[in-house]
Amino acid sequence: MPSPPLLSYYSTFPAGVYQLMRRIVEADYPHATITHVFENAVLYRAGASDPLLGAPYFQSTFRVLEHTRCDPDEEVESAARRFETGLASHPIARLLEHDRHFRVMFSRDGRPVPAPRAVRDRMERTIQRASGRPTRNRDADAEIWVSLRREGFALLLFRRLRNRARSADRPKGMLAPELGALLCRYSDPSPEDVFLDPFCGHGGIFLERMRWKYRLAFAIDRDDRLVSALKERLARRSGTWRKRTYVRSGNGASLEGFDSGFITAIVTDPPWGEYDGSLGSVETLYSAFLTSAARVLASRGRLILLAGRDVAVPEILAPLSSSLEMEASHDMLVSGKKATLYKLHRV
Ligand SMILES: C[S@@+](CC[C@H](N)C(=O)[O-])C[C@H]1O[C@@H](n2cnc3c(N)ncnc32)[C@H](O)[C@@H]1O
Repeated sequence: MPSPPLLSYYSTFPAGVYQLMRRIVEADYPHATITHVFENAVLYRAGASDPLLGAPYFQSTFRVLEHTRCDPDEEVESAARRFETGLASHPIARLLEHDRHFRVMFSRDGRPVPAPRAVRDRMERTIQRASGRPTRNRDADAEIWVSLRREGFALLLFRRLRNRARSADRPKGMLAPELGALLCRYSDPSPEDVFLDPFCGHGGIFLERMRWKYRLAFAIDRDDRLVSALKERLARRSGTWRKRTYVRSGNGASLEGFDSGFITAIVTDPPWGEYDGSLGSVETLYSAFLTSAARVLASRGRLILLAGRDVAVPEILAPLSSSLEMEASHDMLVSGKKATLYKLHRV
């Protein structure tokens, strides 16, 4: 059987973790043909049903209709013109076949930007002619993006909105599931894991950890309502792995009830700047939590910590340096907020 033709795709992730993302993609999908890695996206070639397209840590995946090198300061107008001429030769009619309405979007470095009305209108008319589909901004089923990158790339992208990010309708305060999946993957999940998220909130990390096997999984939050909601969410999920999950209210900073050396992996995002201070300053909370983490983690146990950039984690860690060792840190943007992702292990 001849192998299916490779197509070009573009998948997005939070800005700042591109080196980590490349390493993970290469390890999980060794057949992947990565063409370029941007600050918050990866361009690659794959078959139309390649599992890489559904990697849990990608925010959005687009089919690349065309991409070309361009001037880093290219205007959306000239990029749109360049793509319009080639549109008739793209499989746009086939791609839009099952969609009722499409809309055209413009972006620079992954962020949507406005485009002059005339540029948008002309692009929409060209696509309408090529596809026979009507355009509509509200309730569109599909999007065509003219995307410019400061690295000197212009891309014409297509995506269906039904397949859009899992994070689109999450409760306020919940970590995007794609980021939860990335954090869990970064912890090198093992079927032998006794896993803990001591600040689990709505479960953006905990629920994603269920993708990989584990021995036991614990989630703690001091907010009873969040704990009940997470229990309900878990109960609605099928599958055998959720059976060994324990969700309860408690103080994630003290971790009472856990024996020393019992936990093999902690993945968590404790309160950031929005912390209400009821247990002291955010630094006091982190210091108490990290001291407890050093106690409950088994030797070589992993700790993945996502913290606001203004929390001085390295300083807080200094007195614990004989028990918790920092392996790596990555500055990143999470919903536009400055954050740092830390990987530590129990010495
Ligand atoms: C940044 S949020 C975590 C969000 C979570 N990853 C999610 O996806 O929803 C921090 C959480 O820590 C909880 N929290 C604050 N102080 C706590 C403490 N001392 N012990 C346990 N949980 C605490 C808050 O209720 C909040 O849900």
